[in-house]
Amino acid sequence: MTPLRVSVFISGRGSNLQALIGACAAEACRAEVVLVISSHAEAPGLDFAAAAGIHAAVIPHRDQRAFAAAAEPLLLEHKVELICLAGFMRVLDSSFVEAWRDRMVNIHPSLLPAFRGLHAQRQALAAGVRFAGYTVHFVRPELDCGPIIGQAVVPVRADDDEAALAARILAVEHRLYPLALRLIAERRVRVVSERVEIVSATAPVVATLNPQDCPGDALA
Ligand code: GRF
Repeated sequence: MTPLRVSVFISGRGSNLQALIGACAAEACRAEVVLVISSHAEAPGLDFAAAAGIHAAVIPHRDQRAFAAAAEPLLLEHKVELICLAGFMRVLDSSFVEAWRDRMVNIHPSLLPAFRGLHAQRQALAAGVRFAGYTVHFVRPELDCGPIIGQAVVPVRADDDEAALAARILAVEHRLYPLALRLIAERRVRVVSERVEIVSATAPVVATLNPQDCPGDALA
């Protein structure tokens, strides 16, 4: 099986790009990042592309159609089969999204469909949820919508601020996004009636409680 040719779209730090590049370097991985597109020239994530010798392009996202028109020939030239949005902070043109239907994935730092849009961790704290998390999903024109490939859950702790919660979520992002890419590259992921089916994958059987029952805190 030839490696799946992947383009990663970024806007900033690029830690998820770094995680994907690292995962693709593993011998067992059947994906290869062949093109990085950044909406910002000064995105620190571009350094990860340069260090890995991956072709990178900067396409300022002033206008959705202009961005799509500039990206399309590059995607063709590099024979890209899958687009991974990784901290790409712009809304894409809906025709572009439709053209890449089920071939473009996004990440979002919440348990979708909760807390779409900006500041998902802040929204989770404001809502007082006991668990927050992270979602990898196929992209649809509506923001942070689309069939869910995988999710990871982290507890919200009483003393969390936005930065602490974001850091806890980021650590699981760096595990789940490479896993989702590997499953797609192994052609084990398909969308059926707007739900994702994954061949030969298992789910955990253990439930997690938050708060936990702590004997030391029992009422005397
Ligand atoms: C991540 O938290 C991602 O979930 C969100 O933006 C952040 C990007 O981080 N969409 P990075 O640029 O990959 O480091």
